[in-house]
Amino acid sequence: MTARSIITIDGAAGTGKSSVAGLLAKKLDAGCLDSGAMYRAVAVLAIDFDIKPTDGLALANKVNEVGISFNWEKDPPTVMLGGVDVSERIRELDISGIVSSVAKQPEVRAVLMDQQRIIASTHPLLVTEGRDQGSVVFPEAIVHFFLEADLAERTKRRTKQLQESGNDVHPDVVAEDIKNRDHIDSTRSDGPLICPEGAVVINTSNHTLEEVVEKMEHIVRRTLSNQ
Ligand code: DC
Repeated sequence: MTARSIITIDGAAGTGKSSVAGLLAKKLDAGCLDSGAMYRAVAVLAIDFDIKPTDGLALANKVNEVGISFNWEKDPPTVMLGGVDVSERIRELDISGIVSSVAKQPEVRAVLMDQQRIIASTHPLLVTEGRDQGSVVFPEAIVHFFLEADLAERTKRRTKQLQESGNDVHPDVVAEDIKNRDHIDSTRSDGPLICPEGAVVINTSNHTLEEVVEKMEHIVRRTLSNQ
């Protein structure tokens, strides 16, 4: 079975992809895939099994051995490693510190891309977010969105998110982490962060979550009704 319709949301860290994707999926009654959670789960494997974040082959083999999946019954869906819920673990700072290196490895990208395509094939309508979802994994998506936001706004959002999940971080540290990850994500050779061709670009800095989602929902519904 192939997915009837895929909507992709690409963009850098802190542009609002996750919140926007979750709300948009709800409004459209669609599945919602957080592809970053899969990369973060691989970073958990690196730490738990003492594998170097740069050893792509060992990480990809470990992914195939342990298995990454989602519990779609949960809202938002929880990411699982070998049946164990790691959705809280993946948000901790040690994971954020190595996940870009993990995500740089072509073997890791290849194995996760295959899994993302399999997941899409089981959903009639899927909203998927992540840096390469529209540009590399699902070029056939019916709508590609590309979110942007100013660094100050992204730092504010990320700091709040981390503090709410119990990480006592200073905004300067978060800003450095974002800048560092932006650099790695946009300069890596495999699946760099780019705006997909034909994407609808939205700057979310001065708009509420609801405003952004309303605009996106309108575009998606119009596209669906023209299919
Ligand atoms: O969106 P996030 O911060 O949870 O993503 C975590 C990391 O995973 C980030 O550094 C980039 C990487 N990533 C990626 O390379 N491709 C994706 N589709 C999603 C995330």
